[in-house]
Amino acid sequence: MSAIAYVDGAYVALRTARVSIEDRGFQFGDAVYEVWPVRGGLLRDCDGHMARLYRSLSELLIAPPMGPAALRAVLRETVRRNRVRNGMAYLQVSRGRAPRDHTFPSPPVRPTVVVTAKALSAKAQNARVENGVKVTTAPDIRWARRDIKSVNLLANVLARQAAKEDDAFEAWLLDGEGFVTEGTASNAWIVDASGALRTRPLSNDILHGVTRATVLQLARERHVKVIEAPFTAADAKTAREAFMTGATNPIVPVVVIDDAKVSDGKPGPVTLALRRAYLALPA
Ligand code: PDD
Repeated sequence: MSAIAYVDGAYVALRTARVSIEDRGFQFGDAVYEVWPVRGGLLRDCDGHMARLYRSLSELLIAPPMGPAALRAVLRETVRRNRVRNGMAYLQVSRGRAPRDHTFPSPPVRPTVVVTAKALSAKAQNARVENGVKVTTAPDIRWARRDIKSVNLLANVLARQAAKEDDAFEAWLLDGEGFVTEGTASNAWIVDASGALRTRPLSNDILHGVTRATVLQLARERHVKVIEAPFTAADAKTAREAFMTGATNPIVPVVVIDDAKVSDGKPGPVTLALRRAYLALPA
């Protein structure tokens, strides 16, 4: 079966799917994206990702190409046509196609919409959970509006590549004072020495992770003490546990940071309990 993409109203073979070289997403990175997890063939955390998408569009003054109900139907149909059971749905909306000019096209043009869906290896995901992963740390050199899920990911790409070359799965990014902002494609968490769950509070410094919000709620329901406060790389290295959250890898234990083992170097009990609770949530 060949992969299918949705492009501006039509379902087409991924191999031949095209957008214009004059698309502002290609020219300027003038576009937003969203990633929905798919488990059991169903979109998960759907409303949270949908709400963040419309917020990203609104912050960049890109007209929504369609309403949430129509978009949900397109996402579901793309997942169905690609027969994805465990994986992700990806959506990108750009400001549209126009001759290259930094200012917005006037009159406005139709936004470009692309949706794809792909399977992810449950075996690889499970191995990461069983063994835990290594993260490296790197300066956060991104722009000041990281709350917007824009496709401008150059700093993330460079940090992630450097992490990979250091045999790490993710890079944790550090602000000017040495506090962890987040990962290149995930939010960062620790269980500190007092047993409290700690993650950076929401601001323009980080993406407002949908998985983050769900995990915070699960933790509070389970009476785990939660502190939304920044932590440094040194705090993380001496923490009881560390983990990361994101749509494509819901909760992954972090067992090595740079060259320091976190605790005994094994996935921790709070991390694993939260992961079990997260995976047990209904769609
Ligand atoms: N990344 N922080 C950043 C910078 C991210 O790119 C992501 C998601 C997250 C986690 O957000 P959520 O829990 O809503 O997925 C945090 C997606 C998965 C990606 O770029 O592929």
